[in-house]
Amino acid sequence: MSEIEVPKGLNGVVVDETAVATTDDSGNLLYRGYRAVELAERVDAADVAYLIVNDRLPSDSERKEFAHRLKEHSGMDGKVSEVMKLLKEKDVMRNLRSIVSLYPYESKDDSDLLLEIAARFPRIISDTFRISRGQEPLEDVDASFSERLYYLFTGKKDAEKARYLNKLLILYMEHEFNASTFALRVTASTLADPVSSIVSALATLKGPLHGGANAEILDFFLGFKDEEEARNYVDEKVASKEKIMGFGHRVYKTRDPRAQFVKEEIRKMDKEAHIFKIAEAIENRMWEKKKVPANLDFYAAIYMHMLGIDQNLYTPLFASSRVFGWIAHYNEQLEGNKIIRPSSRYVGKTGREL
Ligand code: ACO
Repeated sequence: MSEIEVPKGLNGVVVDETAVATTDDSGNLLYRGYRAVELAERVDAADVAYLIVNDRLPSDSERKEFAHRLKEHSGMDGKVSEVMKLLKEKDVMRNLRSIVSLYPYESKDDSDLLLEIAARFPRIISDTFRISRGQEPLEDVDASFSERLYYLFTGKKDAEKARYLNKLLILYMEHEFNASTFALRVTASTLADPVSSIVSALATLKGPLHGGANAEILDFFLGFKDEEEARNYVDEKVASKEKIMGFGHRVYKTRDPRAQFVKEEIRKMDKEAHIFKIAEAIENRMWEKKKVPANLDFYAAIYMHMLGIDQNLYTPLFASSRVFGWIAHYNEQLEGNKIIRPSSRYVGKTGREL
C-alpha cells in the first residue's frame, strides 16, 4: 500500500465521516443539523444533550425518561468519597480523570454505562473540588440539568445565572473531530470499553491548547488596570511570538460563532463591566496585530467569572457538557469501526551495531 503524507497535526485532513456536528460554509456550528447558537438561545441543555446522543430532540416522555436516567446516577458511592478524601490533589481535572477511571459503575450495557458516566460528572466534580478544599459535599437538589450544575459548582441556587450557564453548556457540548473527541475515537476504535474511551478524552481535554485554555485566561487578564495595559500585553506577546490563551482555532480562522454569542450574553449581563472592556481591547488588538480571533474559551472564561464560578472548575465544566458529544462519537465510531492506526515516517538511526 502506498503511503500518504499529511500535514503536521492532521491540519485539514478528513479522517472519517460524522453525522454529529459540522461547521457549515457560513461558519455556523451545527449540531445534528441545528445551529448551535440557536439551540443555546432557545433550548434546554438536557434536550440538546439528548439531541446530540440520539439525533432528534426529545418528546415529552423521552425528556422525562432522559432526566430520570441522569438522576438515577446522580449520587456518590461512599467508598469513592473516602478515596477523594485521600487525594491531596487540588487539580480538579486530574481528580475527575482518576475518579471516572475507578468509579464502580452500576450499568452493564454500554449505552447505559455511557449515560451513567456522563450523569456522574457534576457530582464527582463538585465533591472532589469541595473535599480538596476542606469543605463538605453539598446536598443534592431536585432541579433542571443547568440549575443543578450551577448549584453544585457554586453552592448557590440562582435561576437567572443557571439560565446563562445553560447557554454555555450547550455551546461547549460538541465540536466534531476536536482533539479530545479524536482521542476518544482512537481508544474506542481498539474496542476498549466506554470508561477507557472517556478517560482518554478527559486526559486530552485537560491540555491548555484545548479545554485547559479556559482555566488560564483569567491569570493574565484580571491584573490589567486599563485597556492600554491590556493592549501592551498583547504587543509584548506578539513581539516575543508567544501564544495568548483563548485565541486561535483549528476551524475558525476569522470568527468563532460561539465566542461572539457568549460575548453578546456578557454585554447583556453588564456591558460596563471593567473585565468586558479589557476583553474587547485584547480581542481587537489581537485581530489588528495577528488576525487571530477570540475562541469560545476566551469569552467563556469571562462569562464563568461573571457567573461566580471558581476558575478551577472551568475545564471540568467544559467536560460536563462535552461528555455528551463524546457519547455520540463513541457510538458512531463503533457503528462503522476500523482501528485508527496511522503510519509514521522514520527519521531515526539505522544499522547500529551492538
Ligand atoms: N496567540 C497568538 N498567536 C496565535 C494563537 C494564539 N493563541 N493561536 C494561533 N496563533 C497564530 C500562530 O502563531 C500562527 O501564526 P504564524 O502563522 O504567524 O506562525 C497562526 O496563528 C496559526 O496558528 P496554529 O497554532 O498553527 O494553529 P493551529 O490550528 O495548529 O492551532 C490552536 C489551533 C491550538 C487552538 C492555537 O490557536 C492555540 O494554541 N491557541 C491557544 C490555546 C487555546 O486557546 N485553545 C483553545 C482552543 S478552543 C477550544 O478548545 C474550545
